[in-house]
Amino acid sequence: MDYKIALIRGDGIGPEVVGEAVKVLEAVGRRFGHTFSYEEVLMGGCATDAVGKSYPEGTAEKCKACDAVLLGAVGGPKWGSDRPAEERPETGLLAIRKDLGLYANLRPAKLLPPMADACPLQREIAQCGIDLMMVRELTGGLYFGKRDRYKTNDRGVEASDLLTYSELEIERIGRRAFELARLRRKKVSSVDKANVLETSRLWRSVMHRLAKEYSDVEYEDILVDNCAMQLVRDPAQFDVIVTENMFGDILSDEASMITGSIGLLPSASIGDSAPGLYEPIHGSAPDIAGQDKANPIATILSVAMMMRYSFQLPDEAAAIENAIDSVLAEGWRTADIASPGDQPIGTQKMGGLICEKLC
Ligand code: IPM
Ligand code: MG
Repeated sequence: MDYKIALIRGDGIGPEVVGEAVKVLEAVGRRFGHTFSYEEVLMGGCATDAVGKSYPEGTAEKCKACDAVLLGAVGGPKWGSDRPAEERPETGLLAIRKDLGLYANLRPAKLLPPMADACPLQREIAQCGIDLMMVRELTGGLYFGKRDRYKTNDRGVEASDLLTYSELEIERIGRRAFELARLRRKKVSSVDKANVLETSRLWRSVMHRLAKEYSDVEYEDILVDNCAMQLVRDPAQFDVIVTENMFGDILSDEASMITGSIGLLPSASIGDSAPGLYEPIHGSAPDIAGQDKANPIATILSVAMMMRYSFQLPDEAAAIENAIDSVLAEGWRTADIASPGDQPIGTQKMGGLICEKLC
């Protein structure tokens, strides 16, 4: 088959890690008989520098003409919050999520066996394993609610961000979570703050309706503060966690940290139609950009998710994941995951080793 992939290389280490992911795509193509073609799409701080806007006109259309989007990373201190909104890379990120209808953000957090020592939790906890899928609602809630800032007579300036969720938005993300759980260990933990927020009470009632429909899947409600605690106390209890946008932003960082290796974690953002967007969860790491130090594995695992969720190619996805497992099992490490005494390898060498395993 032929697949067309939009490449948003972005800022910082983005271009380097996407470069290695493209090498892996080519290796997969050779092994399984697919051809991949690429459309370069400018977005992020580099777009601000080139054309004055982080999300140039036509970005969404270019992506929509492709079967999937691969994004390296966008952002950096050069384009900070003192800049006008259209020059900030985050603005582009939120716009592309909304314009492509990417309401479901899948962030797996898995402790790979060769990386068990990197887990910052106590050994007894790490030994129970971590293999969870965070399903974060991505196009609603506080991120997209009405914002305001105005002067009051007696309280100085006041600001407000509106938190809204509809049944439709909750139901479609809930269904994703239950469907995913059916392919895994069949448990959904739905995170909310129903003891305080009305949006959470609606969230919970919709989830309960779905839980009855998916009665083969175990279901639980968990309050967000308790979930934050349980993630460090006993992460093995979780299979699929589903939550709204803001809680998901925070908890997914926590979940990634307990695996001890943020450089290894991919993500997928999908909607009801193509293209889905795939990106590593780490940022643009400007401090190591251009030095061949970045870990390309999270981006390469994002390509594996692309194979699985956008192209329905599970064998290709598994081949990529197995290639990475064997390279790690042989002891190869980039600097971010190296232990004292390891001789770290660079971005390109890591990408090359993974490609060799795919041949
Ligand atoms: C993420 C990031 C973004 C978010 C920022 C950069 C806008 O933290 O993808 O988790 O909050 O969604
Ligand atoms: Mg975040």
